[in-house]
Amino acid sequence: MKFMMPFVFLIALFTLSSCEKSTEPVTINPFHDAFVEASKHLNIEEKALDYTATFPSYLKENGFIEPKTDNEKATLGRVLFYDKNLSRTKEVSCASCHLQEKAFADGKKVSDGVSGRQTTRNSIGLGSAVSIGSSYGSSNFFGIGFFWDDRAHSVVEQSRASFSNSSEMDMDIDLVVERVKENQAYYKWLFMEAYPDGINETNILDAIQQFVNSMGSFHSRFDAGMNANKANANVNFVNFSDFENQGKAIFVEKCASCHSKFAARSQVPMANNGLYLYYEDNGKGSLTHKTKDIGVFKVPALRNVALTAPYMHDGSLATLEDVVDHYINGIKNHDNLSGLLKTDGQPGLGLTAADKAPLVAFLKTLTDETLLVDERYSDPFK
Ligand code: HEC
Ligand code: HEC
Repeated sequence: MKFMMPFVFLIALFTLSSCEKSTEPVTINPFHDAFVEASKHLNIEEKALDYTATFPSYLKENGFIEPKTDNEKATLGRVLFYDKNLSRTKEVSCASCHLQEKAFADGKKVSDGVSGRQTTRNSIGLGSAVSIGSSYGSSNFFGIGFFWDDRAHSVVEQSRASFSNSSEMDMDIDLVVERVKENQAYYKWLFMEAYPDGINETNILDAIQQFVNSMGSFHSRFDAGMNANKANANVNFVNFSDFENQGKAIFVEKCASCHSKFAARSQVPMANNGLYLYYEDNGKGSLTHKTKDIGVFKVPALRNVALTAPYMHDGSLATLEDVVDHYINGIKNHDNLSGLLKTDGQPGLGLTAADKAPLVAFLKTLTDETLLVDERYSDPFK
């Protein structure tokens, strides 16, 4: 339909202009004119980039379903994601705390929002799931929620929360709609292409969802190894060093019970990993006020984890070495500590200092360099 519209206009205008003897220049393609205006502000092509994801076969064979993305909607979502006008003080966009070169985390302990305010938690990398769309969502029973405490169940819910959070963008959603309307110079064309029914809250949040859900990350050396071995993580990969293979074996045995041997959708959505004996931030417990949820946090996806330091909900661990040290000898015996992090009823996985370097080497194989330079996810503003 979208592609038919200019054509219909053309015929209509042609018919009109042939019976009137007007000397006025006629607009023959309003889509193109709106694009020309938008392209004064955006580095963007008239034909939307292709957001189709093609997963490696090992993932498809294991039930991961590629998200279906509408290219025009994702393109609009990309602009919204990078638009600082959508925060109260026009200083902050989604991308301020989700940087492409850091796999959409921000490298800070906690993030900087509007007016010098800070978030209480560490930003979460977005390209870190195989595909947010196939890993997350509440439409099914097994859906993994968003945020460290699992409180949002779709990017729509999550985005509404990020816009309105006073230490992030500090907006109410009506004001977001107003700001989009103020910037018709580029939004007019983007909405004509993506949502002919125009600018409103539903369409704005849906477009961001299309964009965020399309961020798949599956071009790491780990993926290549998994593909070559038909998803068998238990054999040595030829594209890995001995060290990395050693780390992979430890990961599969000790860590995959929660973080998944596909390093994809977590096996256990939420857990207490014994980071503290007493938590300042109770995680899921602050939402539910149940004792059993104190210190329970989302089990994060580990894709691109080498790029998303510092680590944990509070960014308290600076490096991957620190994280592995935690699992070697730092696990606290919290009442809610997961049984998967105990050996003979005691905290610990039976790891030794010698396991550290191989585990860290393995975690670095999860980096997908292509995500960091993919034009589809880059800043479109001039
Ligand atoms: C001021 C910094 C900041 C801004 C601005 C921001 N975020 Fe975030 N984002 C965070 C932090 C911090 C978290 C983790 C918060 C938590 O768990 O409570 C997060 C979490 C998320 C998550 C959850 C990921 C997961 O795996 O659970 C998504 C998705 C997300 N942000 C997308 C967005 C989008 C889209 C926008 C713009 C509408 C946005 N963020 C704006 C800092 C920010
Ligand atoms: C019981 C489930 C469980 C097991 C087993 C487990 N983890 Fe975790 N992991 C978690 C949870 C929960 C968090 C987040 C905790 C928090 O933020 O307070 C986490 C956080 C992490 C992080 C930080 C990621 C980030 O983005 O901040 C890394 C890295 C990590 N784990 C690696 C490992 C490794 C390596 C092993 C094996 C030695 C392992 N995990 C075993 C549950 C688990």
